[in-house]
Amino acid sequence: MIGKVYNNKEYYVIVKNILRNSEFQRRKEFKHHNDSVYDHSIQVSIVTYKIACHLSRHIPISIEDATIGALLHDFYLTPWRDNKEKEIKNLHGFNHARIAYENSCNIFPQYMNNKTKDIIKKHMFPLNIIPPRYIESWIVTFADKFVSLNVFTKPSELPKYVGISLPPVKDCPKTLYRFTKKFVSNMY
Ligand SMILES: [Fe+2]
Ligand SMILES: [Fe+2]
Repeated sequence: MIGKVYNNKEYYVIVKNILRNSEFQRRKEFKHHNDSVYDHSIQVSIVTYKIACHLSRHIPISIEDATIGALLHDFYLTPWRDNKEKEIKNLHGFNHARIAYENSCNIFPQYMNNKTKDIIKKHMFPLNIIPPRYIESWIVTFADKFVSLNVFTKPSELPKYVGISLPPVKDCPKTLYRFTKKFVSNMY
């Protein structure tokens, strides 16, 4: 699923300048659960791109803004495992969207508009309580959770989203995850 879209010319034209950027490349060194922030960001942008292409047949939607916002949604400054903060408001899950937003504005101002800003700032909804304003932002907040956590099967991973480690709890049934995966896979 991922490979097919990654080789998609339209997708690649949208993302190529960001992918080539050295600061973005540095995210290969940032661990994100089982992969790197670089890989995770590409996966979220691919899932977002697929959903946006699918929905654009029915409603007005900016495929480019959605895809770029997705690619930059975790463009924060330091690996979250390096954050030793104990105060809840300073935990990675609560503050990295703002940091990613500020960093994106610094490094990629040419891609920043109302939609891409909203996507990055609000992708942690509902953890960050202000809801997304645009359909593009809703897609990314969904795609991020779908890709990064397998939250539909592993609620035990949810604390990682906030930036803390807790002992594992029992996994829930996999039905919803399978349904969502099938939905995304069938879009092309
Ligand atoms: Fe994030
Ligand atoms: Fe993410």
